[in-house]
Amino acid sequence: MSNPTNAAATGSLERSAFQNPLQAHIVAMAAIIASIAVIAGALALLIFVRPSAAAQATASGKPDQAASAERGKKLFVSYGCYECHGRAAQGGVGPRLGPDPLPLAFVEKYVRHPTASMPPYTTKTVSDQELADIYAYLKSLPQPPKENSIPLLSQ
Ligand code: HEC
Repeated sequence: MSNPTNAAATGSLERSAFQNPLQAHIVAMAAIIASIAVIAGALALLIFVRPSAAAQATASGKPDQAASAERGKKLFVSYGCYECHGRAAQGGVGPRLGPDPLPLAFVEKYVRHPTASMPPYTTKTVSDQELADIYAYLKSLPQPPKENSIPLLSQ
């Protein structure tokens, strides 16, 4: 069990760790300060950068990045669109929204200023970027199968 190589390695490790306690202390403090800096930086990003980026997107009235159907799918759920329009936007309490959604301009107008029972979503709740993402999701939905490809319907 007593492996001379191992013993030597452990010995040298211990020596290097205890040889210069001040150095070890400085390294530990540097690591702690670095962690605090990283956390503070992340918080600063969350607090200052995100709202201003959102404000810019709203101010210019244009989404700031390419619409993503993937993000839109998640937003469709998190904003509760699915509760009335169905998980696959197939319709429920509210009408079917996709595939082949109505023009983006109409969807934007309707979501901001619905004229019947749907609750309004202002840019404070759903940003233009997020609505563009939801629209991309609606466009990406698969087409339903053709009638004549369903045996029960072609009998
Ligand atoms: C509380 C239920 C409810 C929620 C939540 C909801 N809708 Fe609606 N939506 C409706 C109803 C009902 C209509 C039909 C018109 C009306 O009554 O306002 C509608 C209509 C629409 C229309 C017009 C469609 C057409 O064919 O005229 C769009 C676009 C739409 N909703 C998108 C959305 C999006 C996007 C969300 C999520 C951000 C959402 N809705 C959330 C109930 C809802």
